[in-house]
Amino acid sequence: MEKEKILLAGEITKKVKADAKDFIKKGMPLLEIAERIENKIVELGGKPAFPTNLSINNIAAHYTPFHEDKTLAEGLLKVDFGVHIDGWLSDNAFSLDLENSELNKKLIESSKNALKKALETIEIKKTTNEIGKVIEDTIQEKGFQPIRNLSGHSMDQYDLHAGITMPNIDDNSNIEIPGGLYAIEPFATTGSGKVHDGKPSGIYMIVDDKNIRSPIAREVLNFIIDEYQTIPFCERWIIKKVGAKALFGLRQLEQNGNLHQFKQLVEEKGALVSQAENTILLLESEKIITTE
Ligand code: CO
Repeated sequence: MEKEKILLAGEITKKVKADAKDFIKKGMPLLEIAERIENKIVELGGKPAFPTNLSINNIAAHYTPFHEDKTLAEGLLKVDFGVHIDGWLSDNAFSLDLENSELNKKLIESSKNALKKALETIEIKKTTNEIGKVIEDTIQEKGFQPIRNLSGHSMDQYDLHAGITMPNIDDNSNIEIPGGLYAIEPFATTGSGKVHDGKPSGIYMIVDDKNIRSPIAREVLNFIIDEYQTIPFCERWIIKKVGAKALFGLRQLEQNGNLHQFKQLVEEKGALVSQAENTILLLESEKIITTE
């Protein structure tokens, strides 16, 4: 683990988060919000760890604006972004109530409290389900449900989901937590506590670098390998570099099995979802929340 780079990614995240909390207003195009966040990350010397997720109301995650997206910010907006320095990652999220709604505010508070308590509780050698239980209890106390099929995750260089799952419920997983880098991300909902796959997101990740014949697809693939390696990226980033023909290349790469495209994740009852997330570095001698 390269502690200095992890901490630097965290410092950039804090600055971008402060800026985003200040500038995001109801009615602003999601495209403009995502670009400002991503540009600011680069301006401060980092790179986006994945495309900025801007998910509204019942969409829990994996909505990033498409290249000509006209969606405007409203409702309960979850802002989830990350930074990397040479692949060393931060991952964080916050939720905004853009409607002055008591219910939105309570739901946001409950995921925020669950995150706070989970971060206080987590220690090397505690078990993953102990953390899940703290999250579950805190959210249920307020009459809401945690989303059981979304979870936090360990992270490693260029690896956003490095193998250890940090559940949002007491799932009896009973895994002793080793030292390392973790994202903890409780989601709270007024619904049943499950998400299912929605529409394609335009967010992709490389899964196989096998050769592809189509020259456009090959050009796009080479660019992805150079620029993103194994971190997620989105169609609007590729279009910006390669032009609109990139859409054709992306489709071919997906069909050929080079790319995985993520689905939007939607609450199954169509209910509201809030999210809070921070990154924590667990070392033998200390624990550091890097993103707050
Ligand atoms: Co995460």
